Amino acid sequence: MPSDQRSAETPVEPRKLQRGDVLELVMEKPADRGKCLAYHNGQVVFVPHTLAGERVQVKVVKRNRKYAEAHLLSVLESSPNRTIPRCRYFGSCGGCTLQHVAYTQQLKDKHQLIREVMTRQADLPDLEIRAPVGATEPYGYRNKMEFSFSAYRWLSRQEIDSETVYDKSFALGLHPPGNFAKVLDINECHLQSEKCIALLNGVRDFTRKSNRVPWNWRYKEGFLRNLVIRESAHLPELMANLVTFGYDEEFMLDLGNHLQSEYPYVTTLVNTINTSHAQTTFGERIETIYGPGFIRDRIHDLTFEIAPGAFFQTNTLQAENLMTVVGELADVTTNDHVYDLYCGTGAMALSLAKSAARVTGIELVEDAVVNATSNAALNAIENCTFISGDMLKLLTPAFTTEYGPPDIIVLDPPRAGMHPKVAAQVSRLGARTIVYVSCNIQSQARDLKALSESYRAVVAQPVDLFPQTHHIENVVLLKQKL
Ligand SMILES: C[S@@+](CC[C@H](N)C(=O)[O-])C[C@H]1O[C@@H](n2cnc3c(N)ncnc32)[C@H](O)[C@@H]1O
Repeated sequence: MPSDQRSAETPVEPRKLQRGDVLELVMEKPADRGKCLAYHNGQVVFVPHTLAGERVQVKVVKRNRKYAEAHLLSVLESSPNRTIPRCRYFGSCGGCTLQHVAYTQQLKDKHQLIREVMTRQADLPDLEIRAPVGATEPYGYRNKMEFSFSAYRWLSRQEIDSETVYDKSFALGLHPPGNFAKVLDINECHLQSEKCIALLNGVRDFTRKSNRVPWNWRYKEGFLRNLVIRESAHLPELMANLVTFGYDEEFMLDLGNHLQSEYPYVTTLVNTINTSHAQTTFGERIETIYGPGFIRDRIHDLTFEIAPGAFFQTNTLQAENLMTVVGELADVTTNDHVYDLYCGTGAMALSLAKSAARVTGIELVEDAVVNATSNAALNAIENCTFISGDMLKLLTPAFTTEYGPPDIIVLDPPRAGMHPKVAAQVSRLGARTIVYVSCNIQSQARDLKALSESYRAVVAQPVDLFPQTHHIENVVLLKQKL
């Protein structure tokens, strides 16, 4: 057979992409984690910092059997939805992934992604998914940020290009994308208020001058571990929580005096002592240096006391919209017994309590249950009971016998979603309505599938609690199949 005839009949396999390849791509659609997806000779390539429709030049940095990942080299044809990131650390910092996308487009992209995940992973192609409730304040919205100290400073592109010589043995800031070993020294962050950033910079100066040593993850030694800042959206209250490896009373009192004179808006300073090797801001003990040791914030007409380790939705204004959506979808009547599963400090339980006969909340963290109980008392709510324990062990037929079966269940599990046995138990409880709130649409889609034998998904209403990042909160209404 002549060779030209053979080549006409045998399809030539396109060359597999290799690390280092430089390509020109037209980005096709938004994908998970704030990246966009494109095809190159049938091979999938994910690229961060791009938008659908853009023609870009990229360099392949990673490849596996199913797809390649590439870095953006230059935008050849830009999308009209591209915008200039507000933050000088964008790209170097792992905090935000979408600052280059106009906010209205961020909402459209998140909407499209939810549609795809619900179709592909939950098998719900016909589910009505309403447009996300967007934030009126897409910057400066976070009421809590956790900054890390590190003995390994990561330099941003601009810092490297500036040719300034930096001391790389001390940093206080945020981690670069996917790198929990190093820390980018942050002097600005547009997700929190200016007050919080001034405090961050003030604490950095103070701790540096005090010659206390930052945490060294490699040798598991050092003193300064984290600075957690929590600020009330509705009240003039702000908490600084310094996480340290051990307790140094003199140092903490000095820091307290410094904050009270230079940053009088810091209403309480606490010191979490964490002598474990785990990278966590939780510790074995909390010392209150001054102030009450907590802050208060409001969701609608409810007041919440927020202790250093307690869960509280990180975007207070959008949490109000979330509670409104949950209330509308749950459609609770005064005869209803509501279960609030994974209730945290009780925000959803307390928001629904006035419309319900009673609410029973379950939560793993004992301190959160203590908070939820005192938050009920603070708001003169008497029809809520909060129980602490692991959902898997607690949610048994014996529990239902003791506390009574639910008419309505509100579910808000952590990112991993429900354990399959919990999903099976939830299905068996016989509630007429389930409202499933989630900050992870992938695990939510898996759980919806697990519930689908007994429950029909009626509608989804996303609420954007996390502008500038790829995260979104999604609320799905489920009705019992009759
Ligand atoms: C997303 S938060 C829910 C917050 C709450 N709905 C609110 O709006 O404030 C998830 C909660 O699940 C709790 N949790 C995690 N694992 C759990 C488990 N195995 N059993 C019970 N609760 C758990 C966490 O402590 C956390 O408070």
